[in-house]
Amino acid sequence: MDLAIETLNLTKLYGHKVGCTDICLRVPRGQIFGFLGPNGAGKSTLVKTLMGLLYPTSGEARLLGKPLGDIAKRRKIGFLPENFRYHEWLTFRQLLDFHASLYGMSKTDKKQRIPWVIDKVGLSGRESQKIRTYSKGMQQRAGLACALLPDPELMFLDEPTSALDPLGRRDVRNILVELRAGGKTIFLNSHLLSEVEMICDTVAFIKHGTIIRQGTLDELRSAEINVEMRLEGITDQIRSVLVCIALSLTIKGNTVLASVSREEDIPLLAEAVIRGGGRLYELNLKRSSLEEMFISMAQEGENSAGDY
Ligand SMILES: Nc1ncnc2c1ncn2[C@@H]1O[C@H](COP(=O)(O)OP(=O)(O)OP(=O)(O)O)[C@@H](O)[C@H]1O
Ligand SMILES: [Mg+2]
Repeated sequence: MDLAIETLNLTKLYGHKVGCTDICLRVPRGQIFGFLGPNGAGKSTLVKTLMGLLYPTSGEARLLGKPLGDIAKRRKIGFLPENFRYHEWLTFRQLLDFHASLYGMSKTDKKQRIPWVIDKVGLSGRESQKIRTYSKGMQQRAGLACALLPDPELMFLDEPTSALDPLGRRDVRNILVELRAGGKTIFLNSHLLSEVEMICDTVAFIKHGTIIRQGTLDELRSAEINVEMRLEGITDQIRSVLVCIALSLTIKGNTVLASVSREEDIPLLAEAVIRGGGRLYELNLKRSSLEEMFISMAQEGENSAGDY
């Protein structure tokens, strides 16, 4: 398989503090890959390590088939950092010209590419304005333009829409989908799960620096089946049987929410209700939204939140 990103036990420690550990990823070309996890989980650490801003403590990685730091390949990689702060005394056009020079772009390429990216991120007519006078959302658009400059084969976008309004978010989604249609690969860190759900092919979930799940959205969803039952006559006996069958169980009034790992457990839930003397009015299967999966993975085995 032609892989855009391949990492093998990639680890970055900050002294004794874990940034990310033993990251093993294989992202095929032409995908939008979503990298999810709670605050402080290690998402930006991985991106910065792959971008060469941090040295890995151990492990290996290849981008576009070459080891980290390969200069020719770096020219084909776009990056939008999480805390984007650009040279605010420059105009947007000057900023693009500077970034184009860093990418080693020729004059002809610059002439063709700079107006294209300005238009692409919706900042036409504002290119002579100083970055200092840009709103936060405009600065984020400007950052995306810098990442798009080299016509990258691979892009790392660390929360690219955090400052954007809903229209801006839709614009960025459209850009990413268009890039994918052109065979480009996008690595996306994002907390906007509805957005991830709309555009990502595959996602990985990182927690405390370690990847705990990865797969397509459907694969992750089918790992857990959510069953909602409406019933009357719930007794302690029914509850105790349901608890044994379900991975998790919530009872709110006459509604029972149970998650199970196997289809065969669904009739067992119904049977437990009926045998216990309950009356079952409704049983529905619910697909987890990415948000529900995120929350349940983030809370698995936790007493308190966060790595920060
Ligand atoms: N320069 C640093 N020095 C020491 N520890 C750091 C440094 N940068 C990050 N960390 C720690 O590494 C861990 C991972 O941080 P990271 O910024 O990668 O998280 P993240 O998943 O990007 O979080 P967020 O969603 O808040 O952006 C955290 O515990 C953080 O405190
Ligand atoms: Mg981050």
